[in-house]
Amino acid sequence: MSARAFRSRRTTLAVPGSNPRFLQKARDVPADEVFLDLEDAVAPSAKAGSRQLVADALKEGGWGAKVRAVRVNGTSTGWAYRDVVEVVERAGECLDAVVLPKVSGPRDITWLDLLLGQVELATGLPPGRIAIEAQIEDAAGLASADDIAAASPRLEALVFGPADFMASLGMRSLTVGAQPGGYTGGDAFHYAHMRILVAARANGLQAIDGPYAAIQDVAGLQRNAASVAAVGYDGKWVVHPIQVDVVNREFSPGQAEYDRAEVLLEASDYYSGRGLGAAMLDGEMIDEASRKMAMVAAARGRAAGLSRTTRFEPPVPG
Ligand code: GLV
Ligand code: MG
Repeated sequence: MSARAFRSRRTTLAVPGSNPRFLQKARDVPADEVFLDLEDAVAPSAKAGSRQLVADALKEGGWGAKVRAVRVNGTSTGWAYRDVVEVVERAGECLDAVVLPKVSGPRDITWLDLLLGQVELATGLPPGRIAIEAQIEDAAGLASADDIAAASPRLEALVFGPADFMASLGMRSLTVGAQPGGYTGGDAFHYAHMRILVAARANGLQAIDGPYAAIQDVAGLQRNAASVAAVGYDGKWVVHPIQVDVVNREFSPGQAEYDRAEVLLEASDYYSGRGLGAAMLDGEMIDEASRKMAMVAAARGRAAGLSRTTRFEPPVPG
């Protein structure tokens, strides 16, 4: 993970920034993160007015421990700079991250990083506190994933955007996140998922999967979430409160995995304190690489509210 503090993002709830009722209701949804949207969920005629609604919703509070993010419009639009300036000037102290959509290269991130820095300076906000999450959702963005992931110390996550990605590639499906009918090659998103995951991890970032739009298809959502969780993704966007529990579950470690991670961390401290880099734990070799894997699983378990049920037993001398 990055040097920035670990934030749990098992679920990120999309909330249209133009809808006061949804902005109100989202506070009670048990998602780890919310993003108040100024981009594709908001009609062009409502974009300017939504900035104030979003800033007010942030300032009013009531978001509990959720990560509070705003998705601004992309850098190729005429809305982007005012989205950033107006929301951060009005409510920057109540904002944890800006989600930048349609990132097609590192200069998009550099632009946002500089602009955030200017607003922070002008308003007395702590420099660099507001994080960036970059949506990779077109062919150019995927091809530049490594450069994007390295473009700013503010970056905390790369987010795959299946809807725009499907459009960018010309995939023959109109259902966001679902496999294109007729494709016989396995998972049509495998390459994009892995490309983004590798770029994210190479730069210490989280990797987050995008939305699954078929709200009633809970089994499809569950399969989709389980599959990306298995390869290492940290979480997934949700577009409706009924999607939250199933996705939170898929991205939480089970009790046994969590217990093992905590025990492994304790064992690793114990042995490294005695000058040993590699040691045996319950018949398995553990070393620095296993400690890193355990740190991720332990952080996820703690964020999911799990409590440990076992402890490391140091070997009895003799
Ligand atoms: C999300 O923004 C997507 O394009 O899927
Ligand atoms: Mg998109």
